[in-house]
Amino acid sequence: MHEQRTFRAQLAIATQRLTSAGIDQPAREARHLMQHACALSAAELIGEELSEMTFEQSSAFFDLVERRASGEPFEYVTGTACFYGLELECSPATLIPRPDSEVVVDEALTRLPLGRTARIADLGTGTGCLLIALLKNQPGTTGIGIERSSRAAQVATANLRRHGLSARASIETGSWDDWTGWGETDLIISNPPYIASDIIETLDESVRSHEPHIALDGGADGLAAYRSIIHLARSQMKPGAWLVFEIGYDQGKAVTSLLEKAGFDAISCGQDLGERDRVVSARR
Ligand SMILES: C[S@@+](CC[C@H](N)C(=O)[O-])C[C@H]1O[C@@H](n2cnc3c(N)ncnc32)[C@H](O)[C@@H]1O
Repeated sequence: MHEQRTFRAQLAIATQRLTSAGIDQPAREARHLMQHACALSAAELIGEELSEMTFEQSSAFFDLVERRASGEPFEYVTGTACFYGLELECSPATLIPRPDSEVVVDEALTRLPLGRTARIADLGTGTGCLLIALLKNQPGTTGIGIERSSRAAQVATANLRRHGLSARASIETGSWDDWTGWGETDLIISNPPYIASDIIETLDESVRSHEPHIALDGGADGLAAYRSIIHLARSQMKPGAWLVFEIGYDQGKAVTSLLEKAGFDAISCGQDLGERDRVVSARR
């Protein structure tokens, strides 16, 4: 046996490569990339550690390692992301779901009484993560995700299928400006693009260079999407229905004020685990 070709030895080489590329958790990521490249579970990989990798396995693995070492986000390299305990497909056409968005789902779930049927819309659905987390946790609900990017909409559709939700929800490709379902919806959730345009160039390289700017850019002051959604919601939402927004940590006052001016009530602002403002909800 050629010791340098064992899974364990190749793992060590990859860990070194990721370490020198400045990746935070190189050993953990190398292991996950190896599992992904070779379609092995964690337990199977432990069992294989002293076996030799085939040429094909090794080359598929090091392709992924090189992509990661060059700064591509881990979730794009593997094509999957975890959100609210769910594994989701993701691609460079979608924002990578963030743990911070989980409090937005928590907040929305408090507005959906258990055991009642309700219709949910997710504006700017990306991977579909918010919609899917809500549907999975509220069996009586149905929903729709609206997404401007057709490539992201395909990913969201695949994620609905992956989680057995195609009969309860669908994805519509287009802008929320043209959506006509406001009046039939009990809860609207949205994590719209909310970064001010001139801040985008200051974001981490992995976000700035890899994540889609259509998912980030909220116009000159970061509030353009909130203004357009609130403007439409004000005249078209069903009275008593809820609007739940993810917001940037410094946008609580501004979004609250937009909702007050549009006549919404029961407006509240909640925080994420880092105690920064993260979610605003309001009733029509
Ligand atoms: C910040 S990302 C959020 C994605 C996903 N909901 C999440 O939380 O990970 C915003 C999403 O809104 C989409 N989007 C931007 N403008 C839109 C519009 N006018 N109509 C529909 N979708 C839009 C983007 O393509 C992107 O997928």
